[in-house]
Amino acid sequence: MFKKILYPTDFSDVAHSALDFVVRLKDAGAREVIILHVIDKGNFDAIARYATKDILEIERNLEDRAMAEITPIEEKLKKKGFKVKVIISRAIPFMEILRVEEKEKVSAIVIGSHGMSNIAEIFLGSVSEKF
Ligand SMILES: Nc1ncnc2c1ncn2[C@@H]1O[C@H](COP(=O)(O)OP(=O)(O)OP(=O)(O)O)[C@@H](O)[C@H]1O
Ligand SMILES: [Mg+2]
Repeated sequence: MFKKILYPTDFSDVAHSALDFVVRLKDAGAREVIILHVIDKGNFDAIARYATKDILEIERNLEDRAMAEITPIEEKLKKKGFKVKVIISRAIPFMEILRVEEKEKVSAIVIGSHGMSNIAEIFLGSVSEKF
């Protein structure tokens, strides 16, 4: 039933905690996990017109850092017996999550209720509230 799981992460503590739920879905039949990190285009669009070269460099750095964060997550999931696919995109996070969900025909999405901002007074973050 839960064969293919989409696990979008911004590498926040809350997203890391959500990984435990992914692992627990193994008993419910989960076999494959797609780890998705979206480099938020919205952060760059406004200044991209003025500093194209710098932006490209920053995006490359972010991509490298994302890969470094993803590697241990990938290892952990593989050790648990999952097939793992990694996607790093430059896009708007919630739109990209929906695009990958549809393209990959996933059976469940596991996201944190909060991410990097994690403001306790707010019930859900702006990405998680879309789901
Ligand atoms: N850039 C991203 N790439 C992949 N997954 C993300 C990304 N941003 C958020 N998520 C997922 O959505 C969850 C909720 O994050 P969200 O951004 O909604 O909360 P927040 O960062 O606390 O609030 P906000 O971004 O609205 O200030 C995260 O735990 C993560 O699973
Ligand atoms: Mg966020």
